Amino acid sequence: MEIKREARPIAEVETDALVVIGWEGGPPQGTPAAEAIQELYDSGEFTGKSLEISILHHPAGLKAKRLVLAGAGKKDRFDASELRKLSGAVLRSLKSKGVRSITLALDNSSDADDFTAAAVEGAILATLEPDRYKTDPKKNEKQVDTFSVLGGSQSAIDRGRIIAEAQNFTRTLANEPSNVLTPLKLAEAARQMAAEFSLDCEVLEQDRMRQLGMGALLGVAQGSAEPPALIILRYQPATAPASKDHLGLIGKGVTFDTGGISIKPAEGMEKMRYDMAGGAAMLGAMRAISQLKPAIPVTALIPAVENMPGSKAQRPGDIVTSLSGKTVEVLNTDAEGRLILIDALTYAQRIGCTHLVDAATLTGSIVVALGAVNIGAFTNNQPFVDKLIGVAKSEGEKVWQMPMDEEYKEALKSSFADLHNIGGRPAGSITAAWFIGEFVGDTPWVHLDIAGTAWLDDAKPYMAKGASGVGVRTFVKLAESW
Ligand code: BES
Ligand code: MN
Ligand code: ZN
Repeated sequence: MEIKREARPIAEVETDALVVIGWEGGPPQGTPAAEAIQELYDSGEFTGKSLEISILHHPAGLKAKRLVLAGAGKKDRFDASELRKLSGAVLRSLKSKGVRSITLALDNSSDADDFTAAAVEGAILATLEPDRYKTDPKKNEKQVDTFSVLGGSQSAIDRGRIIAEAQNFTRTLANEPSNVLTPLKLAEAARQMAAEFSLDCEVLEQDRMRQLGMGALLGVAQGSAEPPALIILRYQPATAPASKDHLGLIGKGVTFDTGGISIKPAEGMEKMRYDMAGGAAMLGAMRAISQLKPAIPVTALIPAVENMPGSKAQRPGDIVTSLSGKTVEVLNTDAEGRLILIDALTYAQRIGCTHLVDAATLTGSIVVALGAVNIGAFTNNQPFVDKLIGVAKSEGEKVWQMPMDEEYKEALKSSFADLHNIGGRPAGSITAAWFIGEFVGDTPWVHLDIAGTAWLDDAKPYMAKGASGVGVRTFVKLAESW
């Protein structure tokens, strides 16, 4: 889909569908075809409710074939995040009707750069369908060829495109089935992307990880015939930064999680292909960061493994030595994410990262606590998480901070090793966070549990079912606003 800036006056725009927003109560001042729109409101056919859509054909005084009134909800609650969803919902709805060109009119209540970028993001995110393995030749018959924005700056349009394409890159990876996307294939995808966007890419293979002593990560990997990989992508700003700060983005990359010997039930296990969504989010963030060029160095580290119950698999009760030197009694092989993350986080510290953010589909417990609405955030540094939550909010990604009282740590005490890898059923997402926290020390760190938010079980009006790409926008903005 081509994304363009439309510079003609609104009446002159030739397009299949000219989209204007309508709040509850009425459209913005200066919206064309005012009389016809007023009739829609008066008849009750259109109320302005969020994501509602009405279509007028051959609107008087316009060159556009259709005028589309897009419900934007209450005026005082309308913001860039609402516009992102609205733009996506409009695109998906018009696409299903066979419309091929769309022009979205932003008026002076919505043409600020963050609105423009969000509108473009919404449209691009809405185009992605998880149908690449469908062989129906007609599946691509209904496609929007052009999405234009009237009003708004070219730089905001470009920014929106960069970010949404990065988020779709993440979603595409996370949607891939695990027979296709093995740890080495994920590393290959990272390498290709890095080459295309001039990022430095290094992949640590099994032998290297053995030399280094990443026993926690390797313990998880040993049950699979697919070798593991630690993917490292580096972004360096062109001019030397003023501070020594160096952002580390660490993403869980379990390409499939059977649970290992502590095997999961069959029901729903197919979803465990998105257990690399945290890693994919970091790859997507790096893709955008390479183009938007923030002032801070950023390194992404993605420990990629497959958690399988093969004949070499680790057993409950096994004790592994992590890269940090601390030992872990593996009581449950299904608590594998935290095992691979601790070695990646220790390595991130060793290569100079001063601030750490990890994203992981870590616990079912966070799904129970926060559902598919909020990411769970955990930290050892309140100002850092405050900053991240603020950034996430501005990007329309919801993050809820969870408590990390010292008392929760008790559950990780092991009789046989320094600690064990599960804390029992109570507060499962918090004990998981504490397990990781025990390896991070004082380095400012935010852990994001995205198990509930990285996957849509049902399509939204603005986004297809499957991987959501959550986190990408927040990580990019975090780097940009350092
Ligand atoms: N990948 C899962 C967590 C998960 C659950 C992600 C649901 C997405 C949806 C993780 O590796 C896991 O298995 N966690 C266990 C931990 C338990 C064994 C302590 C869990 O949450 O049940
Ligand atoms: Mn697991
Ligand atoms: Zn997992």
